[in-house]
Amino acid sequence: MESVGRIHNFGAGPAVLPIEVVEEVAAALPNLLDSGFGLLEVSHRSATFQSVIDSAMERIRRVLSVPDDYEVLFLQGGASTQFYMTALNLIGEGEKADFLVTGGWSQKALREAGRVGDAAAAWDDSANGFRSVPQDGDYSIREDAAYVHYTSNNTLYGTQYHHLPDSGGKPRVVDASSDICGVPIDVSAHDVIYAGAQKNLGASGVTLVIISPWALSRGKEGLPTMLDYNTHVSKGSMFNTPNTSGIYILDRVFAWIEQNGGLEGAIERNRTKAALLYGELDRSDFWRPHAHGGSRSVMNVTWRLADEALESVFLAEAEAARMGGLKGHQCIGGIRASMYNSCSMESVKALVGFMRDFESRHG
Ligand SMILES: Cc1ncc(COP(=O)(O)O)c(C=O)c1O
Repeated sequence: MESVGRIHNFGAGPAVLPIEVVEEVAAALPNLLDSGFGLLEVSHRSATFQSVIDSAMERIRRVLSVPDDYEVLFLQGGASTQFYMTALNLIGEGEKADFLVTGGWSQKALREAGRVGDAAAAWDDSANGFRSVPQDGDYSIREDAAYVHYTSNNTLYGTQYHHLPDSGGKPRVVDASSDICGVPIDVSAHDVIYAGAQKNLGASGVTLVIISPWALSRGKEGLPTMLDYNTHVSKGSMFNTPNTSGIYILDRVFAWIEQNGGLEGAIERNRTKAALLYGELDRSDFWRPHAHGGSRSVMNVTWRLADEALESVFLAEAEAARMGGLKGHQCIGGIRASMYNSCSMESVKALVGFMRDFESRHG
């Protein structure tokens, strides 16, 4: 790591990638897969790129056990476009959708869906500072809701569901941007899963969408072409020029996941990293973890220092110790360590060691 001057990167996204993937990308830049075309210079209509996108889709199906009748799409416009696109495709005339609002991203998803139809919060924890996710029974879903939307991991506040939320028998739509492929997921229990790639899956500029036959059947006549899921299914995610290099990186990240124990391996490593960091946070009153017990995220760990004035010192010293991306989001301040799949155990150990040292000097 030192040889290429890389730091311990705890950034929330775009986030650290496995060094093996970074090196593969570097090697592909002048010549992708011996095609003679560079990674950034190859046509999406070429056989070379078709093999890349096919490979990426197959790997995703394998790693996430995607049911055969579901479609896998690589779209653009980020998860933020999906806030509106899911609602546009799924809410019919006069229909409703219910939202579990557990942070800034689900607030935004709800706001966008409200442009399409009657979208309402079935649960909203903003008054409590978004410290936990709801348990089944904490909310009820409207009888006539077409679907329920939730955010599986709240990147900003550091909370996460550790169960499949009850949807009152309605289809589930999930924004899994910050924990896809890092925690268990039952794809068949959802009708739309969407995730920006830039945290657990690769680089920014690709949005993974996994969509069920039911969700595709909801498509209406007259939708704007680019916002109609059926457009992208019918063209194999190449209705317009896709993010070719981003899809290549995604394929390489999935290959790396497969070579490192698949989804199970990633889950296990993430649990171990999270246990180490939360263990340190719980050890002393010097630290004030944000999320409540059962809702703690294994991907984004958020905390304050008991003496908040020391937070800027912590960040400056961490940077000097070659640890970056630790500044908490402005909505809660403090410290946030994002530990996506590619964040190594070595990095987390370095952080915990630094924290102990910091406490011994400032505590
Ligand atoms: C849970 C979640 N949803 C949505 C977004 C927005 O994603 P994008 O920037 O790809 O639109 C983010 C970005 O951090 C996120 O963490």
